[in-house]
Amino acid sequence: MLSKEDNELLTRVGKGTPMGELIREYWIPALPSTEFPTPDAPAKRMRLLGENLVMFRDTNGDIGAFPEACPHRGASLYFGRNEECGLRCVYHGWKFDVNGNCMEMPSEPDGSNFKDKVKINSYPCKDVNRMVWIYMGHRETPPPFPEFDVNTIPYENAQPPVVMMEEANFFQNLEGDTDTSHLDWDHARLKAESGPVGEGHIRGVFSPQKNPYVQAQPAEYGAFYTGRRKITEDKYWHRINQFIFPIFTMVGGDGESASLRAHVPVDDTHSMLISMGGSRTKPLTEEDLKQKRYTDPFYPTGGYVQRTSNPLTYFHTVANKDNDYHRDYTVEKTEMMSGVPFVHNLQDRAMTELMASENGDEAIYDRSNEHLGTTDGMCIMVRKQVIGAARAHQEDGTVPPNVDDAGMNARVRHACVVTTLDGDWIADSKAQRAGEEDHTCICGPLLGMAPGSVPGELPAEAGAIG
Ligand code: FES
Ligand SMILES: [Fe+2]
Repeated sequence: MLSKEDNELLTRVGKGTPMGELIREYWIPALPSTEFPTPDAPAKRMRLLGENLVMFRDTNGDIGAFPEACPHRGASLYFGRNEECGLRCVYHGWKFDVNGNCMEMPSEPDGSNFKDKVKINSYPCKDVNRMVWIYMGHRETPPPFPEFDVNTIPYENAQPPVVMMEEANFFQNLEGDTDTSHLDWDHARLKAESGPVGEGHIRGVFSPQKNPYVQAQPAEYGAFYTGRRKITEDKYWHRINQFIFPIFTMVGGDGESASLRAHVPVDDTHSMLISMGGSRTKPLTEEDLKQKRYTDPFYPTGGYVQRTSNPLTYFHTVANKDNDYHRDYTVEKTEMMSGVPFVHNLQDRAMTELMASENGDEAIYDRSNEHLGTTDGMCIMVRKQVIGAARAHQEDGTVPPNVDDAGMNARVRHACVVTTLDGDWIADSKAQRAGEEDHTCICGPLLGMAPGSVPGELPAEAGAIG
């Protein structure tokens, strides 16, 4: 459990909050590149870390991100004209470039230099491998761009990111990725022979041990942990996943694939799970990109709801808490532990989105009510790391080393090893975790999800289940 004070610290992301300020030290993913299809396309509303923004792609293809309110008299720049390398507020015509400089102030007298005195506090953006990242911090020069594998593989090898809006606090959703034990329950199938229960569904898990031993280790970049399960009389299998400051995780994936998950806070009570991935060796073909799993990733449960210009409606899936995520009671009786479809992270979301507080009026769980068991070791470790980092930052501006050492993130990977009963999983997995040794992930087969053990093709994302 956490004290109410620590729970507040962990979950609040607005300007001036300890956690919000820690996250603002980092580049974070904001929106898929496809949200800005062409230069000078209409600007888009966005909400990140509790701030209302407008984002746009200018004539040169560069992305700009501004607070939504025009610095003149506060009109919404969402209605601005995106033209000739700048966004022009239509209230009085003031125009700003992607760096926030005022290019024109046509409502002022000829010869006025007032435009040189007004600047928008713009946020730098980078469009890399199908994803637009943003830096919302205070540094004049942003920190180096993080060298996650998903950012450094060739563009052609990068998959379109999958985004899911969640109506709950980001850390609540993130803790699904630091809790490997739920694999054996929330994602489990009831019978060994059961397959996926619908087109586009992932096959449930049928693992060798339903009470894994969890052991977590701190790291400079965050923490890593094993979920250890016994696979024979004298062998343990270790599934080893990562938490990376301040909002990132790596779950599953072999030496050939690049993967990264980000739990991006939209505000205190909404977050986006952004799953990025790709291949280190193979480009995606035009045909690959036409597959429904890329063009409409939630198609098995009806896709996304029709959005409005309100960012809280972006990536909001048709299966959601108002319709029990399309829970199927027959499937629940006969095939799967949960009747919520195993489609991307819907099952996880059904668990984390409704951890409501007693007063029920916001999606921030009060962790002072918890009773943590032995499988919660990684949740405990990550909270400790994050709360420690937020406090250190609040005290004297200290940042974790992966802010300025961009390459540090390149040396973090998922790993899996088999050891003897007295083996050393930390030593045995070191080279895999550091990306120095490629490996073929054995987690899929050991979770009963191997290709060939299911009727039909196994969706690729099955290897990356949390
Ligand atoms: S409010 Fe934007 S130019 Fe006046
Ligand atoms: Fe999960």
